[in-house]
Amino acid sequence: MTFDRSLKIAPSILAADFADFGREVQAVEAQGADWIHVDVMDGHFVPNLTFGPPMVKALRRHVTTVMDVHLMIAPVDPFIEAFAEAGADILTAHIEAGPHIHRTLQAIRAAGCRAGLALNPGTSVQLAAPLLDMCDLVCVMTVNPGFGGQSFIESQLDQIRTLREMIGDRPIHIEIDGGVDPGTAPRVVAAGADVLVAGSAVFKGGSVADPAPYGANIARIRAANKA
Ligand code: DX5
Ligand code: ZN
Repeated sequence: MTFDRSLKIAPSILAADFADFGREVQAVEAQGADWIHVDVMDGHFVPNLTFGPPMVKALRRHVTTVMDVHLMIAPVDPFIEAFAEAGADILTAHIEAGPHIHRTLQAIRAAGCRAGLALNPGTSVQLAAPLLDMCDLVCVMTVNPGFGGQSFIESQLDQIRTLREMIGDRPIHIEIDGGVDPGTAPRVVAAGADVLVAGSAVFKGGSVADPAPYGANIARIRAANKA
């Protein structure tokens, strides 16, 4: 994985058919996905449950691009090794998930993964300042984590701009997660984002049997770059 700041669309499989993840991943990659975003939820840090390392490992066999694993779990540290072994390329942990995010980021890199730091909408991006050199990616949540299909939180645009200035020319991705669609995408890209997670806006209207809408949806979001 070499670093570049070109726009990347990362469909979230939270909006895919849970009984058919393998073929969903193949379909959305064939339709132009740059990364695959995998949402892990524990019913404790966030009020929803998804799946754990065995599912991520099973998915890995179908992902040919970057597998971007978003851990919405607390505690995080006891599970880092298992998710790394499951084949995650990027492991993103929340700054709010425990008292030792510095240790968590160290542990993610020590496990051989790229390290991501996620911040909830209620958390100032300034808190990331002492951690930036330990991060390969900062994920700015533009919804409260836990569910797909929520509305984009406008006030996060200022935070994205602030983070972009803080990062400067360091090789750190700015990822946006939540409510990304063809309307919000140009604005987050203008604010400095380079990785756009999108669940409902990518998977709506399509299926494994009829995947062309995935491609059209991705193209509409990617057009953000030219806006
Ligand atoms: C929310 C997840 C997101 C979610 C985004 O907690 O982290 O990745 O899938 O869904 P949309 O794009 O529908 O807002
Ligand atoms: Zn996510």
